[in-house]
Amino acid sequence: MAAVNGIVLENVTKRYGGRMVLDGISMTISPGETVALVGPSGGGKSTLLRCINGLCPFDSGAIRVGQHRLTPANGNPAATAAVRRLYGMIFQDFQLFPHMTALQNVMEAPRQVLRMPVDACRRSAAELLERVGLAERLHDYPRQLSGGQRQRVAIARALAMSPSGLLCDEITSALDPELKSEVLSALGELKRAGLTLILVTHEIHFARRAADRVFFLADGQIVEQGPASEVLQAPQTPRAQQFLRQVLE
Ligand SMILES: Nc1ncnc2c1ncn2[C@@H]1O[C@H](COP(=O)(O)OP(=O)(O)O)[C@@H](O)[C@H]1O
Ligand SMILES: [Mg+2]
Repeated sequence: MAAVNGIVLENVTKRYGGRMVLDGISMTISPGETVALVGPSGGGKSTLLRCINGLCPFDSGAIRVGQHRLTPANGNPAATAAVRRLYGMIFQDFQLFPHMTALQNVMEAPRQVLRMPVDACRRSAAELLERVGLAERLHDYPRQLSGGQRQRVAIARALAMSPSGLLCDEITSALDPELKSEVLSALGELKRAGLTLILVTHEIHFARRAADRVFFLADGQIVEQGPASEVLQAPQTPRAQQFLRQVLE
C-alpha cells in the first residue's frame, strides 16, 4: 500500500455565516507522513479535514490531493470523488452499517464502488480485519463489539479501498483508555506500513510518539507548527502552552 499522494493546502478560507472558520490555512503534507492536528474545540480541525476530503466546500484558496485539485467553485465532482478514493475518513462515532457484520461492513465499498467480485472482497475484508486484530469477530454485528473493536472495523473498512492515507477525526475520543490503546496501535501499524495519516487528536502522548509533525490550530489559523518533539514538548506560543497544560492535566 504505497502512499504517493501528498496533500497541499494553499491559503484555504472558509466562513460559516459571518464567522471565519478557516482563516488562510496553508500546509504541505508529504506522502507517508503522520501529522497531528491539535488545538481547542471549535478551532476548525474537523472543518479542515472535511475540506481536504471534499466533504465541505470552502470559500477561497485551493487544495491539492495527489494530482487532483479542489477549488472553491467545486464544479468538479470527479476530483472530489477521486480525492475520497485516495483518502478514507474515519469519525469518532464509527458510522458502521448496523445491519451488517464486521465482514460485510468492510466488503461493502469494494463491492459497490469498485465492483470487485464478491469472493475477492470477502478474502480481502477478512485479511484487513485480521490485520486490525479482529480475525475472531468477522461475523459479529457492530452492537456485539466494543467501541475499540468497532473503531477497528471502521479502520479496516477505510483500508478496503486501498487508500493512500486516512483522515482521522478524534477517533479515540469516545473510547475507554484500554480500548484507545488498541486503536492507537492499529494506527501505529498503518504508519509503519507507509500510509499518510492526518490525525485530529487529543492524545498528546500518542501524537508525541507517532506524529512526524504537529499543527496547532486555533480560531481557524495555524498558530504553531513543527516537529512533534518541539510543538508538543516546548510550545512557543502562549495559546499552545495553555492548551497543552489543560489537556495534559
Ligand atoms: N455545519 C456548520 N454550520 C455552522 N457552523 C459550523 C458548522 N460546522 C462547524 N461550524 C463552526 O465552525 C467552527 C469550527 O468547527 P470545527 O471545525 O468543528 O472545530 P473543531 O473540530 O476544531 O472543534 C466552530 O465555530 C463551529 O461552530
Ligand atoms: Mg472536531
